[in-house]
Amino acid sequence: MQYPFSRNDDPYVDLSSQDAFATGAPFATFDRLRAEDPVYWTDFTGNDRGFWSITRHADILALNAKTDLLSSARGIRMEDQTEEEYEARKTFQETDAPVHRAFRALASKAFSKGTIARYEDQIREIVTELLDEAFEERQFDAVDRIARRLPMRMLAQIIGVPDEDATWLVRKGDALISNADPEYTDFVIDKVDTEEYRFLPFRSPAAVELFDYANDLLERMDQGEQLGVLNVVLEPTSHGTKMSRDEFRNFFCLLVAAGNDTTRYSIAATIHSLANDPTLLSDLQAGRQNGWEATTDEMIRWATPTTHFRRTATRDFEHGGKHIKAGDKVVLWFLSGNRDEQGISDPYSIRLDRPRNPHLAFGQGGPHICLGMWLAKLEVSVVLQELSRRLQSIEQVDDHSYLRSNFIHGIKKLPIRIAAR
Ligand code: HEM
Repeated sequence: MQYPFSRNDDPYVDLSSQDAFATGAPFATFDRLRAEDPVYWTDFTGNDRGFWSITRHADILALNAKTDLLSSARGIRMEDQTEEEYEARKTFQETDAPVHRAFRALASKAFSKGTIARYEDQIREIVTELLDEAFEERQFDAVDRIARRLPMRMLAQIIGVPDEDATWLVRKGDALISNADPEYTDFVIDKVDTEEYRFLPFRSPAAVELFDYANDLLERMDQGEQLGVLNVVLEPTSHGTKMSRDEFRNFFCLLVAAGNDTTRYSIAATIHSLANDPTLLSDLQAGRQNGWEATTDEMIRWATPTTHFRRTATRDFEHGGKHIKAGDKVVLWFLSGNRDEQGISDPYSIRLDRPRNPHLAFGQGGPHICLGMWLAKLEVSVVLQELSRRLQSIEQVDDHSYLRSNFIHGIKKLPIRIAAR
């Protein structure tokens, strides 16, 4: 089997290893696990406890909805956390109902489909500017010139901070979420002792600077300044509770991390597919697709930038013939679910004519379904539309490279040559 979008065809990789994903996602391993052992006990190389890997589409969808069995409130990364670390680092993503529901209701106001739709012109303006600049040359790195720049510039506008700060925020966001890749941080989690930073988001010292930045924002809001969506999340919830200042700092780091890389790698995967399959561009230009929203969903399924999130069993239960014990870590592999032919027909092809696309890239089926989903989709959609409008041709001219991470799945360098129309 050829695995498009990966150079890794080893069916027996160690899923706890960051290196296992450094040459692309191990789709062959996921294929084997779905067929042979879909609820798979996975040892953790190193000192952490092992975990259950859930790899089938139907199982992920079913278990993600069972929040009474699987909690988000004991950590959401596969690595272990002590109670103290978890308390210091938690955001509303690491809570269960009813606390989660109350904060989610507040934050959703700012990120709803309707609210986000109002940003379309701003997104198009940024995309046009980036493409104008990039297209001055015929050959360039599409990640550096397009994919990496758009998401944070847009997020900066939404959270009401100056454009000039976006580049700095991208660098800090990279150091946080790409904490396993030496290109983005000196504090690689599985290679360097990060004990000193264990109370910080992603065990990353970059969070110290982001906390300072968030403190400034808090002070400005204390003095009555309006900072886009940030004022909204600080309002009291319907339960009368308010996000504490510590929680706000963690939430700000979550936004900078989540709002940055995931959309970037969706755009990178989109450009990678356009550059490697010329029929995609011609189909889009001829309107042979089910509309931009469906095409965007297909591209994000294809990319699946967030490979997994973890839960913790609240009590003993059976699933798929396995006995899962209270306290066990259970990892939902969205990346595997999105290549499961039982859930998605013809999953290794990009299909612009899918009648339905029940993909899991945003954590569908669970209460934590991505808050930034509409923003991410609108950005990817506008990039697709503008590229289709302006490109005569696009091709990859040299090898691409992948982020070293078993958490974030993405192309970090993509040399392309284009001809504009
Ligand atoms: C294509 C881009 C994106 C992908 C693939 C993605 C993926 C995900 C996934 C899988 C979850 C579920 C987590 C879980 O089940 O525990 C999630 C949650 C979340 N995402 Fe995204 N995300 C993307 C873009 C964004 C953006 C642009 C933002 C912010 C501006 C964002 C903010 C969040 C937040 C705050 C949560 C937590 C929601 C909650 O716990 O209720 N994401 N995302």
